[in-house]
Amino acid sequence: MTDLEKDALLRQYPTPFYVFESEVLRERVKFLKAHLPEEIELCYAVKANTFISPYIADLIDRYEVCSPGELAICTEQQIAAQKLVISGVYKTPELIAGHIASENCAGHYTAESLEQFALLKEAAQSSGKKINILLRLTSGNQFGMNEEDIKQIIREEKENESFVLCGIQYFSGTQKTSMKKYKREITHLGAFLNELEQELGFVSRELEYGTGFPVYYFEDSKAFDEAVFLAEFCDILSTLGYDCHISLELGRSIAASCGSYFTKAVDMKTNHGQNYAIMDGGIHHIAYFGQFMAMKHPYFELLPHREGATEAWNLCGSLCTVNDLLVKDLPLADFKSGDTIMFKNAGAYCVTEGISLFLSRALPSVIILEKGGKTTLLRGAAETYKLNY
Ligand SMILES: Cc1ncc(COP(=O)(O)O)c(C=O)c1O
Repeated sequence: MTDLEKDALLRQYPTPFYVFESEVLRERVKFLKAHLPEEIELCYAVKANTFISPYIADLIDRYEVCSPGELAICTEQQIAAQKLVISGVYKTPELIAGHIASENCAGHYTAESLEQFALLKEAAQSSGKKINILLRLTSGNQFGMNEEDIKQIIREEKENESFVLCGIQYFSGTQKTSMKKYKREITHLGAFLNELEQELGFVSRELEYGTGFPVYYFEDSKAFDEAVFLAEFCDILSTLGYDCHISLELGRSIAASCGSYFTKAVDMKTNHGQNYAIMDGGIHHIAYFGQFMAMKHPYFELLPHREGATEAWNLCGSLCTVNDLLVKDLPLADFKSGDTIMFKNAGAYCVTEGISLFLSRALPSVIILEKGGKTTLLRGAAETYKLNY
């Protein structure tokens, strides 16, 4: 984003707001694709940021949606139904039946349990359609099923006119950096897929794998060569030992870099020797994974840019809680009330995961910035709590 674009945004929109840059997003997806084998598909987990999905529709093979709300948003955004993977731990019977019966029957549905599988089967049977099902393998928590439950479904349901059992979906957590962990997971997945084939004669056509690729948010992060990281990951993935179609389900890694969050200093004070700036945003809008006690310094810019000697500032939000501390001891030059802090890498989860309703403050605006500087307001600062003065 150029300085001119930043100025224009600040003139046009009241803070706090998010800006998602469509071109940065698109380049990000292209970077990932360029560093992964061509035959591997990308599935965007829309929970990371529901606003940006349409801007990568030509680059993304699948969209994973985990709630009726996400589904409604994707439908409104005209994401092709064939690209949708209807996922998530609790799909209501109404959602399953309604969606399968509709003309927007999805490309895939995931089965999270024996009971959820039965619902999918019943809905498919009564709609007369044949649906694609991915069986979600647990990584040892409330999500997905045990190996034994998956085998039971395959044993009992391998041949069926109402659905195709396409293979396995697996997700084991976010911000994974350890190649040892990937090796363990991929070995486990390969062994399980082979076991299904040898023991039950079941050929998995697909593996949908949520890898949880990492994003580095803080200025003290160790140098991260992502090209090397992805090459190492691909080497390990090539040892899967099972020939099937692979799609990688990614949220954070796709969305984080395209987003910035702008929040303005609205009040400043020095209490007991500590400088405090009260910002018009807060922790209900911006949350970086791994930011404990506001100790780490995220990538940011002070607007307007100022040179010179710095002072340490504690940036606090506008919530009535001492926890609303965005950053501690941030060195800022000549920081004044009315200045803006632009927090970077705010494209993933900030806009969807924050405790946005706490204190009932207006929701931040959401703006898309496209190539050439065109801006589109996707959500205005909420009207919900507007006072008439
Ligand atoms: C099933 C599933 N897939 C993919 C993701 C995306 O994870 P990440 O944002 O780390 O890529 C999540 C995140 O919670 C998830 O639950």
